[in-house]
Formats: sequence, structure tokens, C-alpha cells
Amino acid sequence: MARNQSKAKNGFPHFMLKEIYEQPEAVRRVIAGRVDAAGRIVLPGLGMSEDKIRTFSKVTVAASGSSRHAGMVGEFMMERMTGLPVEVDFASQYCYRDPVVAPHELTIFLSQSGTTIDTITALQVARRKGAKSLAICNVPDTPLTQNADTTFLTHAGEEVAIAATKSFTTQLTALFLLAAFVAQAHKKTGAATESAVAALQSLPERMEGALATDSECRKSAQLLYRYKDFIYVGRDIDYPIALEGALKLKEISYIHAEGYPTGELKHGPTALVHEGLPLVVLALHDKQDEDSMLRYGKTVSNIREFLEREIPVLAIVNASDTEVAALTPCVLAVPDLPVLLQPIVEVIPLQLLAYHIAVLCGRNVDQPRHLSKSVVVE
Ligand code: F6R
Repeated sequence: MARNQSKAKNGFPHFMLKEIYEQPEAVRRVIAGRVDAAGRIVLPGLGMSEDKIRTFSKVTVAASGSSRHAGMVGEFMMERMTGLPVEVDFASQYCYRDPVVAPHELTIFLSQSGTTIDTITALQVARRKGAKSLAICNVPDTPLTQNADTTFLTHAGEEVAIAATKSFTTQLTALFLLAAFVAQAHKKTGAATESAVAALQSLPERMEGALATDSECRKSAQLLYRYKDFIYVGRDIDYPIALEGALKLKEISYIHAEGYPTGELKHGPTALVHEGLPLVVLALHDKQDEDSMLRYGKTVSNIREFLEREIPVLAIVNASDTEVAALTPCVLAVPDLPVLLQPIVEVIPLQLLAYHIAVLCGRNVDQPRHLSKSVVVE
């Protein structure tokens, strides 16, 4: 068994690292055949025509853990690209709060395993209340996919490590395709959607560029692994990625980590911030997007202030960044992309950072304590 497992790791020391490296190929599979020569999204497997899609006036997402973080990124993608209102909830909350389901509501359930009891229960509640249900799932023929009206399989391949990595980035890609498809059906495609769809084919290659931060991530981990608490921050669409980075770190290294919207720090959490608590700051920008540049400007001044207070800062930036890099050498740079696709690359250095910190802490990276790949208890 041990020998088979080490063979299946393809020379990587852990499944988690192998699965992090499999992400560009997994995302390539999600995209394959889903954008035609004219740049239109084609999702025949979805089993929902553009006419049916046009009937939806609201979208709700319910999921757990990393899958919920993917749903939160999906909320930004969907609202921005389609103009439809989107709500995201913890599956474990949705199933007990007697949710109000709108007459023309699409309810999306995201899950790697398709066996998470909270998510399955949430789906049953939504169906009972008359919502149309879509399962976005990695594993086919699961209780989740069998109970849903329709399914979008992400085909990330088997994910052995407990920590979600390739299942997460393939969920983000599936949500992007879905949002672009809904925008197309509602005739809402604008410049931001068009430039993101045009950049989609280059996404796997950009993810390979993000994997090239691996040795820098290891060096950062060596500087940081002895700290006891971390705060991750991001603005707008980057905020769920801050939550995901913090979740990755806490679940595999057992180090306390929290994620906040950057703008929320001053409303309380900043009281925790001191020279002994590193801040991991998502400080990305998209020069084609005015709002993104405004957010970036604010984040740069936040970083300046943190550094003046001698707080250890590790910033995730774009390859074209100059302003953050002028303030601190502690940066991890990922390739540039339109803002709607950035989360899919910026999460990669956070996965690698968590991985290297957990290794340095001597943790059982693939099988962290108290966690299981399939959470079948409430
Ligand atoms: C995080 C992680 C968990 C799962 C959560 C939902 O790395 O693995 O937070 O994301 O338990 O699992 P699925 O997606 O299988 O429903």
C-alpha cells in the first residue's frame, strides 16, 4: 500500500504538492471544448438551454469549506458579468435557516466529493422549496449529483490530499464559464466579460507561471513558519481567496490564521496586528480595470502603513507590479490576468506557502488531524 501510494505521487513528496502542480492541466480540461471559435461559451452538458437560463432572476450558492470560498468568488463573477443578484451561504446554515426561495431561482451546490452531508441536505431543502438545482462537483455519480436537477462535472481528477487544491481552481473555472454562459443568455456581455473570456485559453499557462513561485514560497515559509498567528487580507474578489489561504494554512499546519476584507481591518481586527503577526496581503491589479486600480492604490497605502509599524508583510502581486515591490522585497508575483480570472492564479502561491509551512512544522500534510476527505456527519 505504502509503495503504491508513493508511486501514485509521481515523485512528489506529498499528494498535496502533486495536486497543486496538476492544476494547469485540470483547468485545461475544464475549458476544453467550452469556448467556440467565435468566443461563445458552449455548455451542452449543462442540460439547460439559453431560454431556460433567461428565466432565472436570482442565484443562490450553498457549499462548505473551500467549496464555499469558490462560491464566494463565483458571486463576484456572476453579479459582475450577469447583473443577477447572487447570495452565498454555508451549506450547514442554509439547511436550517428556512431560506426564502424566489420563484425563478437557480440554486448552485458546489462540492469536490459530492458526499458532504451539509451540502446534500441544503440541496434537498432548496428542491423542496421549488428551486432549480445545479451541482458543480468533481466526483460523478454521488448523492449530490444524483439529487440535483442538473450537474456540471469539473473533472479535476482524483484529489487524494485532504486539502482542496485542484478541486478549488477547477470549481472557479467552472463558475467563470457558467457566469459567462448566463451573461451570454441574458445578452449582458460587456468589455470585462469579453476580455476575460478572450484570456481564458491562456489561463493554464498563467497558472504554470504561478507555480514558478514555488521556490520563493519555500523561502517565505522558512521566514514565517515559526509565527503562531497569521492574518490574510484581500479586497473585493480577492477577499474569498484570503479566506481560502487562511483555511489552507490552518488546516494543514494547525497555525491560527484568519481572513478579512482588507478594508475591514480598521473596524476591529487591526487591534491584533503587531510585529509578531504576519499579514499576507493580496495586492493584485488589472490596468484595464479602473476599479481594480483604485483598490490597488488603497492596498499599496495600507502596505506602506503596515511596514511603517514594522509588521511582517508578504504581498501577492502581479508580475507587472512596481509599487509594492518598491516598498518590500517580500512579494510573490503571479502572471497578469483580467481581474475576473486573477483568483485562479493568485491562490496558487497561497497553497504553496501553506504546504511549505506545514512541511517545516513537521505535519502530516496529506492527512491532517481530525479531518476527512468526505464529511458525512453534520
Ligand atoms: C478544505 C477542505 C474542506 C472542504 C469541505 C467541503 O481544504 O478540503 O473545507 O472544502 O469539507 O468538501 P466538499 O467540497 O467535498 O463538499
